[in-house]
Amino acid sequence: MVGKNALQLAPSILGADHANLGAGVEEIRSAGLKWVHVDVMDGHFVPNLSFGPGVVKALKAHYPDMFYDVHLMLDNPHLYIQSFAKAGASLISVHVEPEYPIDATLQEIHLSGCGAGITLNPKTSPAALLPYLNRVDLVLVMSVQPGFGGQSFDEGALDKVAAIARWRDEMKLDFRIEIDGGITAANVAECVRRGVDTVVAGTEFFKNKAALMQNMGL
Ligand code: DX5
Ligand code: ZN
Repeated sequence: MVGKNALQLAPSILGADHANLGAGVEEIRSAGLKWVHVDVMDGHFVPNLSFGPGVVKALKAHYPDMFYDVHLMLDNPHLYIQSFAKAGASLISVHVEPEYPIDATLQEIHLSGCGAGITLNPKTSPAALLPYLNRVDLVLVMSVQPGFGGQSFDEGALDKVAAIARWRDEMKLDFRIEIDGGITAANVAECVRRGVDTVVAGTEFFKNKAALMQNMGL
């Protein structure tokens, strides 16, 4: 059965006012949501820089009841697990593309008390995830090339979502399937239909949340 998990919307604070991230989290909370998607960028794996562990620590201090869904777009994510876990991350997702000890990193994420996610870029085959599916709580399918908000949705992500949902059922696993990048009120229902249960939205949440949430049935 596709969709074992309750539908979640995880707004990305990359789409919020960076001079007032607290207001962004307030807006997420006032919409009745718990998940806060925090995009962490190193300027190497992706051509942009964003937030560090200090931002997660500050937001967690002000908003301890929120779920911090931390997306590490780093060449060396294994070097930062402890700092984000200590800062208050609830779940940490790492990419499958860079060269680093992925298995050991997923284990370290769990040992640090966080949920573990594995993430793949639009050009990466979902088969790359197969060795890790029984070790994660979430699979994050990128529907844009990571690095920036406000990009257009890559339809190719939907076939990947469907394949991963099939594998999840065949392997009797129950990880979440999250999609990230270019999600709008217009395409979100199709994403859910194909097997997504966790939706990241930056631009659309902060510009058009009512329609987006309505089309998710939230
Ligand atoms: C892109 C990030 C996404 C991005 C989503 O590198 O991983 O989470 O913030 O932003 P939108 O929803 O505007 O595409
Ligand atoms: Zn993200």
